[in-house]
Amino acid sequence: MLERSELAENALASLHDEGYGKVFDPQNLNAQTMIFTGGREGQSLNGDWNFCVDLLDTGLRQKWFALSPLSAGERTEPWDYDPYDGETVPVPSCWQMLRDRWYFFEGSAWYTRAFDYHLPAGRRLFLRIGAAQYDCKVFLNGKFLGNHAGGSTPFCVELTAALEAGTNWVMLCVNNTRTSDRVPMKNTDWFNYGGVYRDVELFETSQTVIRDLFVRLSGGNICVSARIDGPATEATFKILALEVDATLQVSDGAAQATIPAQPDLWSPETPVLYDITLTAGEDRVSDRVGFRRIERRGTEIFLNGQPVFLRGISVHEDDERAGKVTTEADIRRRFSHARELGCNFLRLAHYPHHELAARIADEVGLMLWEEIPVYWAIDFANPATRRDAENQLRELIQRDRNRASVIIWSVGNENPDTDARLDFMKGLADRAKTEDPSRLTAAACLINHHSLAIEDRLAAHIDVIGINEYYGWYEQDFRDLQAIGKNSNPDRPVVISETGADGDHAAGPSTGLFSVTYQVEVYRRQIKILRGLDYVKGMTPWILYDFRTERRQGIYQRGFNRKGLITADKTTRKPAFEVLAAYYSELAGSTKD
Ligand code: GCU
Repeated sequence: MLERSELAENALASLHDEGYGKVFDPQNLNAQTMIFTGGREGQSLNGDWNFCVDLLDTGLRQKWFALSPLSAGERTEPWDYDPYDGETVPVPSCWQMLRDRWYFFEGSAWYTRAFDYHLPAGRRLFLRIGAAQYDCKVFLNGKFLGNHAGGSTPFCVELTAALEAGTNWVMLCVNNTRTSDRVPMKNTDWFNYGGVYRDVELFETSQTVIRDLFVRLSGGNICVSARIDGPATEATFKILALEVDATLQVSDGAAQATIPAQPDLWSPETPVLYDITLTAGEDRVSDRVGFRRIERRGTEIFLNGQPVFLRGISVHEDDERAGKVTTEADIRRRFSHARELGCNFLRLAHYPHHELAARIADEVGLMLWEEIPVYWAIDFANPATRRDAENQLRELIQRDRNRASVIIWSVGNENPDTDARLDFMKGLADRAKTEDPSRLTAAACLINHHSLAIEDRLAAHIDVIGINEYYGWYEQDFRDLQAIGKNSNPDRPVVISETGADGDHAAGPSTGLFSVTYQVEVYRRQIKILRGLDYVKGMTPWILYDFRTERRQGIYQRGFNRKGLITADKTTRKPAFEVLAAYYSELAGSTKD
């Protein structure tokens, strides 16, 4: 009789256990378990990881994470996959872009690698994953440490207790399956990439670790708040350039201070940044922070007390070759194209983009709208969906609220105006204000096409009303857009968060729908009407680049949404680019800026 291990017995029993997944979904890796990483020296775990797709979650059922690391020849029982051997993929990456057979793969995939670490006594070790689409379960040396839900926000997990001296094995089970209770849910107009597609790093800290640091201007003061985990009774906050050197008292892990200061103000024209540091016990973090004021009064948006018009464009995080992986060069190219368009603003749609985007926008002087993917028909009545949305919002805000470039947190896109949605989204907008009272809130709302007016009930609970309207494309009659302009009388600023038309530069017709000439006509007619609406204080037309989406397989789309002003190769401008650029140039030269 073949001697079977306990694991082998489990492998057989698991064939009849459909409850296998429950124990792996505590969602305990969340906003609360993040650590502040500004100024920390991390050890990168980027590079080749062993990898396999696992459509039926055989790995969780058979507990591949519990297999001991042995060479193939040492195995005494048959296994369906050996995580310590076989194919590798680079991290960061999206598996769809690596092998044709994985292009439409939706399910679990396993990443495994070893790392050596000697952790001195009294020190702590954290793993930080910049993003994994969508759910990520973390195992270290066979132990399940927890999971994170959300495909575009960073998360941390403490490894200290499960670390072994010498070689350690980390395994990630990433699942990008779309389900109706997720954020986003299963129907989106962008490609469902999967994988560990941002940086993976190790951070060693002292017993005391600064988990969060938020610095902002409020009136004539710099307000500092921090969350500190571990032994510390006080913390020291410094901005040498402003001769700020403040001691904060730590109570129950919290520290705050209000410090009178007159920093030079950050703006797109003067993107001034200050070096700040916070120390607590042996822990020390730093950041480069700009100070500015963003407010709305009536239908005006004010930056540092001056009215501003947001000359923007929408962008997805999408690349023809790299999928959702983005690099500093890709972000700088995106921003230089936006600058050539005459932009002072971008809408980073429809989910949190790479954290580098806001850091570079701080540096080059661009304002940003950031958002969470509460998109279309979210399951607004489901508490699990609400928990997911709220955590992703908190993680985004915690990650980027020291970034002067971020002026708007947006909580949703094109959601139906129902009671459940109103309650859900009002809750998110209120949460955003709680986490960060220094910025504006928004949502991309729909027009009431029956009354031809801006009437979304959510508008009363956000600072800026985003409006997605496609007159000239999905809605044919431009006279209706004129009527909407006249019928609407919002008491707060409106940003046209989407408008545009597809133009297939490579293979479209010479005129009519999907031609680049018709795209020009839509932009011309849109601008002609919108410029007359004095409550419109910004635009982010849809969209800078053509982008990948499964739902568009027509002869002029071929798996891409072609509303870009630049083609998917990010090099070829379409004629409509110049139409918008001309309008923005006129605005920049006029008082409307
Ligand atoms: C919607 C949606 C976008 C989508 C766009 C389009 O407004 O918000 O995500 O890509 O329309 O249809 O092109």
